[in-house]
Amino acid sequence: MTEQNWGLRESYSFDRYAIHEIRRAASTGLYRIRGWGAKRSLPTFDDLVFLGASVSRYPLEGYREACDTSVTLGTRYAKKPIELKIPITIAGMSFGSLSAQAKEALGRGASEVGTSTTTGDGGMTQEERGHSKQLVYQYLPSRYGMNPEDLRKADAIEVVVGQGAKPGGGGMLLGQKITKRVAEMRTLPEGIDQRSACRHPDWTGPDDLTIKIRELREITNWEKPIYIKCGAARPYYDTMLAVKAGADVVVVDGMQGGTAATQECYIEHVGIPTLAAVRESVRALKEIDMHRKVQLVVAGGIRSGADVAKALAMGADAVSIGTAALIALGDNDPHYEAEYRKINSAAGYYEDFQAGNDPAGITTQDPELSKRLDPVKAGHRLANYLRVLTLEVQTLARANGKSDVHNLETEDLAALTVEAAAMAGVPLAGTNWIPGQGV
Ligand SMILES: Cc1cc2nc3c(=O)[nH]c(=O)nc-3n(C[C@H](O)[C@H](O)[C@H](O)COP(=O)(O)O)c2cc1C
Repeated sequence: MTEQNWGLRESYSFDRYAIHEIRRAASTGLYRIRGWGAKRSLPTFDDLVFLGASVSRYPLEGYREACDTSVTLGTRYAKKPIELKIPITIAGMSFGSLSAQAKEALGRGASEVGTSTTTGDGGMTQEERGHSKQLVYQYLPSRYGMNPEDLRKADAIEVVVGQGAKPGGGGMLLGQKITKRVAEMRTLPEGIDQRSACRHPDWTGPDDLTIKIRELREITNWEKPIYIKCGAARPYYDTMLAVKAGADVVVVDGMQGGTAATQECYIEHVGIPTLAAVRESVRALKEIDMHRKVQLVVAGGIRSGADVAKALAMGADAVSIGTAALIALGDNDPHYEAEYRKINSAAGYYEDFQAGNDPAGITTQDPELSKRLDPVKAGHRLANYLRVLTLEVQTLARANGKSDVHNLETEDLAALTVEAAAMAGVPLAGTNWIPGQGV
């Protein structure tokens, strides 16, 4: 702003984005659809810090003392639980929203470091099954691409009740991404916008879900762990009911969670932040004495090893990442800045995953664009990123005196804001005060 404009005051309520959106709505008559997750400021893991060790706690030596990162998911009923070397998994992202190359790269990267990937609303691709040593198969309300053979080919099954970006909403894939192959896999017409169901067609509540889970176990000979994934709506009750229905693993996806496409009002205004969701799910598991017996996977806005470590300290067994994995593959890469500009975006801001014209070749079905993504190189980038996250988690765990990252605990944390203290159930730094729990 130039000096003579200093008297102009931007409205906090009607900021430039709000004004832009009013104008856009007025001129098009359409609501805004986009990908990515919530973009506004929310309480996050950044509002917590680790206390570290000093006189009262004893740290571990980084280069000499081991710090275990492995985790087993599905120890409750499954004959073949999933054993992961790191507590970070790749979240379900559909073939259709992502290119086949991107799915292959996710499989390669995750396998390189000993973790799993997850299919999505669009079925299992050969690219992903072929390169993912441990593949979780999503069972979604849409049932797109669902068949019993693929259920049996999977290493675990995730019943998707909802997603953090849109709890209560179904998937959305616009016609420009419904190519011949995507259409065939989903049994849909080519090129027509698709809105998938928000509810499972054959069950309405936890009692029916129990029957559905039994069916899935029978089909897969009780071998595969069954996960239940919920958007963070009412995580305390949802976690309890998921456990009652027979889940081996509960996945809770907070409101920062990414999506391929949905209405912006949904992304920004439905669900609760990941920080609040973890605490509520852990509280539920502890109350029914199922913490660590049913594993908890947390997703939604995880970016760094610090985020992972804080989720584990709050009681999660593992985390799951979507957006960060895509960025590691090369999504929003400054290398394509000029092309992002041509489609009214910029590297680091690109969110129009629904449009199908991603210059990085990741959220697209355009054969020319998707060819740009080399699955081998992109897979290595993802593996590097996952290694760094793991090293960071170990660093933080050792600094708190832990020889296993799962020994991190809320005792190791302090909150920087009253909001985070209340949501996470962690004392405000420098006090022993947890809002809502007395002194
Ligand atoms: C491109 C994209 C596609 C997605 N597709 C699905 C899907 O098919 N099924 C699903 O349950 N969640 C889907 N998700 C949500 C992720 O599984 C996960 O919950 C979310 O990305 C986690 O938050 P994060 O992106 O902040 O890591 C998708 C997310 C993205 C970014």
